[in-house]
Amino acid sequence: MKLSCFSVGVTLAVAAGVAIASDVPEYKPLKKSVLKNAAIFEQFDYEDINESPWRISHAEKDDEFTYRGQWAIETSKVYPGFKGDKGLVMKTPAAYHAISYKLNESFDNTDQDLVLQYEIKLQDGLSCGGTYVKLLNQGYDESEFNGETPYQIMFGPDVCGSNDKVHFIINRPNPSTGEVEAHHLRTAPMSRNDQLTNLYTLILKKNQDFEIRINGDVAKAGNLVKNTALLTPPLNPPEEIEDPYDTKPLSWDDRKFIPDPNYPAKPDDYDELYGNAYIPDPEAVKPEDWDESEPLFIPDPEAVKPEDWNDEEDGEWISPDIINPICETKGCGEWQPPMVPNANYRGIWLQPDIINPNYKGTWKPRKILNPDYYEDKTPSNIGLIDGIGFELWTMSKDIMFDNIYLGHSIKEAELIGNLTYNPKSVLENDDYDLNRPRAPIEPIQPPVSFEDFLNDDNESTLTQFIEFIRIVFLRQFLDIKDFYYEFRLNPLDLILNEPLKFVVYCCAFLTIFTFGFAIINVLVFVLAASKQELPKNETPEQEAKIVEIKDDEPSATGVEEHTTKPIKRH
Ligand SMILES: *[C@@H]1O[C@H](CO)[C@@H](O)[C@H](O)[C@H]1NC(C)=O
Ligand SMILES: *[C@@H]1O[C@H](CO)[C@@H](O)[C@H](O)[C@H]1NC(C)=O
Ligand SMILES: *[C@@H]1O[C@H](CO)[C@@H](O)[C@H](O)[C@H]1NC(C)=O
Repeated sequence: MKLSCFSVGVTLAVAAGVAIASDVPEYKPLKKSVLKNAAIFEQFDYEDINESPWRISHAEKDDEFTYRGQWAIETSKVYPGFKGDKGLVMKTPAAYHAISYKLNESFDNTDQDLVLQYEIKLQDGLSCGGTYVKLLNQGYDESEFNGETPYQIMFGPDVCGSNDKVHFIINRPNPSTGEVEAHHLRTAPMSRNDQLTNLYTLILKKNQDFEIRINGDVAKAGNLVKNTALLTPPLNPPEEIEDPYDTKPLSWDDRKFIPDPNYPAKPDDYDELYGNAYIPDPEAVKPEDWDESEPLFIPDPEAVKPEDWNDEEDGEWISPDIINPICETKGCGEWQPPMVPNANYRGIWLQPDIINPNYKGTWKPRKILNPDYYEDKTPSNIGLIDGIGFELWTMSKDIMFDNIYLGHSIKEAELIGNLTYNPKSVLENDDYDLNRPRAPIEPIQPPVSFEDFLNDDNESTLTQFIEFIRIVFLRQFLDIKDFYYEFRLNPLDLILNEPLKFVVYCCAFLTIFTFGFAIINVLVFVLAASKQELPKNETPEQEAKIVEIKDDEPSATGVEEHTTKPIKRH
């Protein structure tokens, strides 16, 4: 019954799903003319990848390592949004992928806000892999784009098992050395690991305020210059460093405590007299017949070298020792007095410490101005950018990117989100509600508890009451049944462990039995009495029976006495 209900439900849901799918609105690309501040807004409205300006990298490190991962421009396969809405899809599981888009003219962010925004849809989930994007330096080579290609900013999720972060990396040159250093976000937010579209936005304002938004909500924010702990290593080196040539002076006293100089010095004979809990008994005397010249053990003169003893393998054979027979009646070897408790024992010598009046603290080298110090006050003035690229490893297939925006306007990015991500998200969520994977079997409802029963307003109070009584009696009955089985298994233990329960059950049993028997007797008596008044055409046999019964059954009080007997024996 339940199963058929379920299958009907599924059929309905599938039918509804089909109905909704046919109602899904057609995809209409956004008019790019509304975006004045965009270096790129890419919605992948192309027939296929060859028609697009995106170029797959042919970089090779050696014969084994190539970017063999496939790319495609296609519509979404799971929980689709608009009909015909295409994106850039990273196709191959367990492969490196690299693709980039070269800008028509270099993107210059000097004294501007930088906004980078794109959508990610993990159509097959993501166990391990990156989905981040890089802003590539001026003059990079599209066909040789690889992991070494210099970039200004890297942004986006990187996941492997429980390690999950949305990276933000900014590469800044050190003006004194010219070396480029990568500064990472110290505590990166977590990515969204579902199979729907998620929108990632990076904002870097010209006042150095920084923000990461996920699906329009701020996930991380700060100021790159003011919050010195935001990036690691910090954007700017420390202003002062410890002088590497400074050394600790010989006179520097860094002992916090010293032995109390006013305390008496340790006497030379302290350990000997007071330091040991046990001492050789001073009153012990060496026995007269103790023979120090005889050893206590001697080699066994009767021992024989075994026949299979091999001197080379087993070593030289030595006869085992036995107790010197001479020593069986007297002491042998070096005599030592027995140890006895030391009456003068005081424990080990303790010298109290005092705080060192000359303590100067731990020594630290003095600080000097950092000769390599520089101040990067405008990290948002990144170098010129020529391209935007994905250079990624993934374990999962079919990762889709879409609606990539790089520009100077937060408003434009928000508008794009409002016009693309938001409506798409609604459609995807509707589809998800219909088609998401469900447990193969509907979970079994837990049994109705007594509280449920009381709270169920559908039942009348009388039925509730009857059910209550029924449950109470059922519980009692089951308890007694358990007790009875245990009693049969091990009566003595049970009585000893639960004497009260036993007595109560016995009394209850006796009472019920007695009343039951009494009622039966009364009934039989009444029946017999009524039979006696039958008309006279009864056979004598029948009459005799009635009399028999009547004789056997005494009065009600007599019955009680009578019936208790067999139970007491029990
Ligand atoms: C880049 O230049 C090409 C050819 O000149 C042109 O077709 C394309 O529309 C330009 N793209 C952008 C984003 O301006
Ligand atoms: C985007 O939508 C939100 C909420 O509807 C609105 O408050 C906001 O002004 C919109 N932004 C743009 C740039 O249209
Ligand atoms: C009461 O009955 C209605 C209709 O039969 C049912 O939908 C509802 O779940 C019932 N309420 C409870 C608490 O069982």
